[in-house]
Amino acid sequence: MQDRSLSSSPQIIPREKLDFDLDGDIPQYWMDNDPFKTRFFDALSTLFPIGEKFFISCVRDYKDQITDPKLLADIKDFTRQEAQHGMLHTQYNNRLHRQGINVPEILRKQEQRLFGFLRKRTRKAFTLGITAASEHITAIMADCFVERPQIFEHADERVRALFMWHAMEEMEHKSVAFDVLTRVARANYWTRSVSMLVVTLLFPYHVFKIMAHMLEADGFSRTERMKLWAKGLWWLYKPGGIFMPMVGKYFAYLKPGFHPWQDPVVPSYEPWKRLLRELGDPIAAANTLQTRMLQGELQHA
Ligand SMILES: [Fe+2]
Ligand SMILES: [Fe+2]
Repeated sequence: MQDRSLSSSPQIIPREKLDFDLDGDIPQYWMDNDPFKTRFFDALSTLFPIGEKFFISCVRDYKDQITDPKLLADIKDFTRQEAQHGMLHTQYNNRLHRQGINVPEILRKQEQRLFGFLRKRTRKAFTLGITAASEHITAIMADCFVERPQIFEHADERVRALFMWHAMEEMEHKSVAFDVLTRVARANYWTRSVSMLVVTLLFPYHVFKIMAHMLEADGFSRTERMKLWAKGLWWLYKPGGIFMPMVGKYFAYLKPGFHPWQDPVVPSYEPWKRLLRELGDPIAAANTLQTRMLQGELQHA
């Protein structure tokens, strides 16, 4: 199964020492000056460092059973990418902490769920299933965010560049956990689909719970928060909103013969990679890509 799709997969490239100026004067509501939209991405950010540490641990559980040098190299590069994501989102989350968000408590609860419960009480194949399912959801969200430049059109350029870099790397390594799950752990269809069901229920639940804390910490009254949620949930779930275009790709995971590289890398990936190499600055690369995509000039990027 693995060979059929590898030709369309890009190389996993760990990128280190990138500077997004995250300690700069980023406005509190950096996306469209909208508290709900901003806190949605902020909540995702709080989940990344420990979530990615968990993914690395679950994949590395099987490292000693792997003999394929390509898969071993991919795991190494996946680990380096996720470690960088964790570091930069920690810097980002420190900014949220300075705004009054109880980041230490969010991290403590997540650590307890992932390491105190899941890794202690459930099978390794199941936690790897949770990892592969989370990586699929992350990759389809990444795919959607970078291919729809309108979403980040009025966002702060530093945060947009951070999420764009993270999204591109999530797409590069999207098959690593899945390959270990199916080829090494040899998890059956049941493990794969039940773990996806668990992620589908728990991931939005925790994102929304964190957002509820954030909007309360921001000082919005109950009525104001209800209005923000009504408008924000419509932004997320309306036809053509944030989530609806992902539905087909989400269900593809549940097809018995699924592999992440049946869905090739997005058209903006190669231009972004080239711009980053040429400009040497992730913010300038993201800005140029964003402008060209909005002008419909992607092919010239
Ligand atoms: Fe990541
Ligand atoms: Fe990832």
